[in-house]
Amino acid sequence: MATNRTFTMIKPDGVENGHTGAILDKINAAGFRIVALKKTQMTKVDAEKFYAVHNERPFFGELVEFMTRGPIIAAILEKENAVEDFRTLIGATNPAEAAEGTIRKMYATSLGENAIHGSDSDENATIEGDFHFSGREQF
Ligand code: TYD
Repeated sequence: MATNRTFTMIKPDGVENGHTGAILDKINAAGFRIVALKKTQMTKVDAEKFYAVHNERPFFGELVEFMTRGPIIAAILEKENAVEDFRTLIGATNPAEAAEGTIRKMYATSLGENAIHGSDSDENATIEGDFHFSGREQF
């Protein structure tokens, strides 16, 4: 079966709370190969672009504020069925509704500060990965 790619960010709460290593371990144990990886901090313009689909939503301002308040870990990951399997691994958007053992259940703080991002389609995985990494940084 062909592999495909997804894009993830360990969000500022996950990094601040010291969960980077544990989250990367879970990603590794679940069979994802790292294509690209870095620690970076999004600017307000970056976050507004990245989450543009939500710009009419009432939580948009808080989301941009949160995503820019500290460093994140950005990564492109590869595996069979990467997008769907990664969404399963991270769990529901609201950690209160996330299944036991999922990354959001274990490490998220709240709906707004939910520790980790995972692309929701192959198309968005490519757009989001290319937003953070040049072609020369993807192996
Ligand atoms: P969304 O794309 O709906 O969820 P997911 O990250 O699971 O794909 O929303 C993007 C982020 O916006 C979400 O991770 C957390 C935040 N958010 C809120 O703060 N409040 C909300 O009501 C929703 C739906 C999302």
